[in-house]
Amino acid sequence: MPLLEVRNLRHTYRDAKRGDVLAIRDLSFSVNQGEFISLVGPSGCGKTTMLMCLAGLLRPSQGVVLLDGQAVAGPPDNLILVFQEYNKSLMPWRTVLQNISFGLEIKKLTFPEGNRHHLERLLKVVGLSDFAGRYPWELSGGMQQRVAIARALACKPEILLMDEPFGSVDAQMRFELEDSLLMLWQEFAITILFVTHDIDEAIYLSDRVLVSGRRPSEIVEERAVGLRRPRDQVRTRSHPEFVEHRTRIYEMMRTFSEQSPA
Ligand SMILES: Nc1ncnc2c1ncn2[C@@H]1O[C@H](COP(=O)(O)OP(=O)(O)O)[C@@H](O)[C@H]1O
Ligand SMILES: [Mg+2]
Repeated sequence: MPLLEVRNLRHTYRDAKRGDVLAIRDLSFSVNQGEFISLVGPSGCGKTTMLMCLAGLLRPSQGVVLLDGQAVAGPPDNLILVFQEYNKSLMPWRTVLQNISFGLEIKKLTFPEGNRHHLERLLKVVGLSDFAGRYPWELSGGMQQRVAIARALACKPEILLMDEPFGSVDAQMRFELEDSLLMLWQEFAITILFVTHDIDEAIYLSDRVLVSGRRPSEIVEERAVGLRRPRDQVRTRSHPEFVEHRTRIYEMMRTFSEQSPA
């Protein structure tokens, strides 16, 4: 049984000014335990809407989302949605360690290996061991992003949904964040559904890439990515398989942008 299953999801916004906006038409896909899946689609195609439905924050007009076989009706405990610009949500009066442990305190969670040990391991994987006692404003933007990712993982969710998390950083930092995320994914054996408009990023990170055309969202292509792990920002991106995926996905997105009405 897949960990997450999306069946015939459709969502229409009822908007008094613009009239009805069909954001998602008929979306079906599933995500298996431990997979890294990306959904790539142009701006405005309905990606954030989909994530809000998956996270139980928005009730879809039609269709169903199953997590561990159970229909999602509200925010599930074992799922975390990381919003765009999420590093802005760090608390400036708390140290790095205190920011990361915030969720554990709220949920009163304790881990068998000891919370302190768990948090230290997280900090180590994101390369912030030496910064546990620093405050967010003492760190660079990239480090703040890594704190925010570590915080999302601190409660050990089964599945992490990420909404264009690296959209506003420069290319070099983006590469570093992608590699930090892959390390966390492997070290903590979680499942990730990553949403982006960046085709190369989707291929680089994923086991499978789902492609959506223009609004309303629907899957127009699915690519299984067999590129060897651990991946390398230079070698992986110049591999013939990578180039083939990129070409095909560009073509599909272009085709479906031209055909569908705005
Ligand atoms: N609350 C809302 N009311 C009306 N329309 C909305 C609302 N939120 C988003 N939309 C519209 O739905 C479409 C999909 O938006 P969104 O899911 O944010 O796309 P993406 O995340 O892919 O950029 C867009 O046309 C957007 O303008
Ligand atoms: Mg969005």
